[in-house]
Order: sequence, then C-alpha cells, then structure tokens
Amino acid sequence: MHVLIINGSPRVKKYSNTDKILEKFTKGMCENGTTFEQYEVSDKAQWDDMREAFNRNKNILIALPLYVECIPGLLMEFLETLTPKNDGSQIAFILQSGFAEGIQLRCGEAYLEILAEKLGCGYKGTLVKGDNFSIRFTDDKMKNKVTDPYTEMGREFAANENFNSEACRKFTGPEIFPAHMRFILGLVFNTFAKKAFKMIAANIGCEQPLDYRPYR
Ligand SMILES: Cc1cc2nc3c(=O)[nH]c(=O)nc-3n(C[C@H](O)[C@H](O)[C@H](O)COP(=O)(O)O)c2cc1C
Repeated sequence: MHVLIINGSPRVKKYSNTDKILEKFTKGMCENGTTFEQYEVSDKAQWDDMREAFNRNKNILIALPLYVECIPGLLMEFLETLTPKNDGSQIAFILQSGFAEGIQLRCGEAYLEILAEKLGCGYKGTLVKGDNFSIRFTDDKMKNKVTDPYTEMGREFAANENFNSEACRKFTGPEIFPAHMRFILGLVFNTFAKKAFKMIAANIGCEQPLDYRPYR
C-alpha cells in the first residue's frame, strides 16, 4: 500500500504535535513495506503538489489537531479547493487533541465521516486520541511517552488498511473522566490554573481580567 499523508495542522512542521505523532505512526506503518508521501497544510507552497497528490492517490490519510472543537480553518481552506474524486479512493483520519477525554472529539469525528463522502471518497475510520498538549513542551523522554504508542497504531493501520479495529477503538482512552477526577480537575482549574493563566496574561501585557466581556 502507498499512502498520501496530509498534516492538517496550521502549525509549521517543526512545532506541530501532529508531525511528531506522524513520525511515530509512519514508523510502525512502514514495517510491512507500506510507503507514504507527506505534505503540510501549513506550507502553502505545497498546496499545488498536495492537490495533485490527492488526485493521484487512492489511499489518503489526513492527520489533524482539534482546534476549537473542530477542524483547523487552514485545512478547511485547502479542502475547499479540491474536486470530489468518486474513483474508489479511500480516506482515513487521525484526529488528535490537547484535552484527554474522548467525548470531546466525537463531534469532530462525526464530521470527518461526512467529509470523506463530500470529497467523493470511502471512509476508513478515524483514530481518535487526546492528551497531546505536552508533546511540544516536554523533553524527549516525556515526548516519546506520549507519541510512542502511535507506532503500534501505524502497524494496525498497515495490517487492516483502516482504523476500525478494536485496538484502534481502545486507543482513545477514557471517554469521560470519573467523577472524582473531574472534581479534582475542576478544583485545579479554578485555583492554581486560573492564577497561572492570570500571570501569563499579565506578562504578555493583558490589562483586563480574563473573564472580561465588554460586548455582553
Ligand atoms: C487555536 C487552538 C485551539 C485548540 N482547540 C482545542 C480544543 O478545542 N480541544 C482540545 O482538546 N485541544 C485544543 N487545542 C490543542 C491542540 O489540539 C493540541 O495541542 C494539538 O496537539 C496541536 O497539534 P499541532 O501542534 O499539530 O497543531 C487547540 C490548540 C490551539 C492552538
């Protein structure tokens, strides 16, 4: 199998968590001889080549971060330039995010299934996983702890050519945190995190309270 991979993050490759995830994912995917070519939506100079690759390839994988509960605007801008295929091509997605609970990615996942159809492609499923905020900020050891599991998912994808297996479903982790954890997280966000955000805002010159709503 040869796979066209599109990194749908608006962040440049160097700073993109999606790119670090793809690095590990493709390592596993290529073990059985699967090959790929990868493009970055963040680099508009690649858009013509990406469009040509979209038209040429039958196996397509779009990896994207959740941005404000939905797909990044820059990726949408690119997708709107494509002509629907209707030639038997198939699309799968990797949908990853910062917050950890699976439930907050489900709306995006449902949208991606519709998107595959709108692009005139069959749908090969979505690998859904949160808890990726730290990739960009932590040292190699921590970064690898978060990204290494994607190598196994790459193997799964190469073997099944879709994300419909039980292993992929389980990969999401908890759909929703248990009540005691939500209580603790609520407490942390309303105390320490609130204070930290206030300090960060003040340091970058913010003079209004963070809940300031002048247009209410
Ligand atoms: C503008 C923006 C909006 C985001 N919105 C969400 C969100 O709604 N839910 C979430 O869990 N993470 C959200 N995140 C976190 C990203 O999904 C997460 O950090 C992801 O790993 C970033 O991947 P990238 O570096 O490849 O863009 C957001 C990040 C940014 C910058």
